This record gives sequence, structure tokens and C-alpha cells, in this order.
Amino acid sequence: MKGKFITLEGPDGSGKSTIIELISDYMNKKGIEFIVTREPGGTPIGEEIRAIILDNANVNMGAETEALLYAAARSQHIHEKILPALNEGKIVFSDRFVLSSLAYQGVGRGLGIEKVKSINDFGLRDVYPDLILFFDIDPELTLKRKTISMGGDRLEQEGNEFHRRVYDGYMELIKKYPQNVKKIDANKSVEEVLNQSIVEIEKILF
Ligand code: TYD
Repeated sequence: MKGKFITLEGPDGSGKSTIIELISDYMNKKGIEFIVTREPGGTPIGEEIRAIILDNANVNMGAETEALLYAAARSQHIHEKILPALNEGKIVFSDRFVLSSLAYQGVGRGLGIEKVKSINDFGLRDVYPDLILFFDIDPELTLKRKTISMGGDRLEQEGNEFHRRVYDGYMELIKKYPQNVKKIDANKSVEEVLNQSIVEIEKILF
């Protein structure tokens, strides 16, 4: 049996991690088999790559290197975790997936959506999400909170202009590849954001 693949996308600090925990509670209550994972990371190799990418010391990292590292971590993620779980019939939730690379590296870093898509396609093995929940929120609002409270990692420390480009990139991508994308209004309360997410999840599960 084939499982379902659900990804969460959005600007930094859009509340995905909080909601994914609450979705886990919901799935546990329903007794449906699932796993939760994240990008970059999700596997031991991927977590090592994540540490390199997000390290504030790596100021010299080229945009192409960054894009290739994300794509490499993703390919390992698919090979080691996502495909096996889907083949076992599980529901897979991933905090970020390929749309993040298209928005952050393709548009944010200016590498071009098509170029970033082509390096990712090599490792994707035709895996495409059955549902993409896009957490829609003004990136400037959320970043202010995150960088003030925690200092922020290498990507979070990029200026507002970068994160504005990423957001606009997401908007462009959602128009270009609307397949399976559902927008979630992430300005609302946690409870409302969770409810909106569950409505969409139930549509593809039941
Ligand atoms: P993380 O701490 O997981 O941020 P968030 O909770 O906002 O998802 O850090 C991941 C960072 O990496 C985040 O700034 C988005 C960025 N990113 C890319 O630039 N490209 C990618 O392909 C992925 C998966 C993430």
C-alpha cells in the first residue's frame, strides 16, 4: 500500500513546527500510522549537512554550494526515510521540502527556479507531495520575533529584503505549480491554523 506525503512550507517563523506537533497529537488520537520529519535534515547524513548549511561561521558558502547541499540532503532523505515510509503505507509529514529550495535558493538567492529545480529533480525519484500546506504570513513580522529572541541561524540572519524575495518567490511558485498546494492563513490563532490544516489533511486521508 502507498502512503501519503504531506509537506509544510512557508517563511521562517511561520509556525510550522508548532502546528506539526499538534498534527502529530491529532494523528495519534486517530490511530493512523505516520512519521514526522524535516528539511534540511531528517536523516543522520542530512542532519550533518544541515549543520554545515546553517552554521553562522560559513560566511563563504556560495549560493550554488548551498543549493547543492540542500538537494543532497533531500535526496538522502527520500532514499532513506520518505520512500520507505510511503512504501509501508505510512503518512509522511515533512517540515519543508523542494518548494523551499525553489523559493530560497531559486528566488531568494537569485539562482533561478528552473536551475534549482533541475538539480533537485536528479534526486527526487519522482516523489511529489500529495498535499503542500503553505503557511501564509508576512515574513518581516515573524523574523523580527525570531532574530531578537534567539539570534537566528545563517539563513534567518539574512536581511528583510532576502526574506521578502523568498516570500514573493513562494507566491510565484504557487501560481506556477498550484498542484496540491493549499494556503493556510498563518496570521490566525494556533487553534485556527491547526483547524485549517486538519481540514485539508482530512480531505486527502478520508
Ligand atoms: P529551520 O531552523 O528548520 O527553519 P524553519 O523552522 O523556518 O523551517 O531552518 C531551515 C532554514 O533553511 C530556513 O531558513 C529555510 C532554509 N531552507 C532553504 O533555504 N532551502 C531549503 O531547501 C530548505 C529545506 C530550507
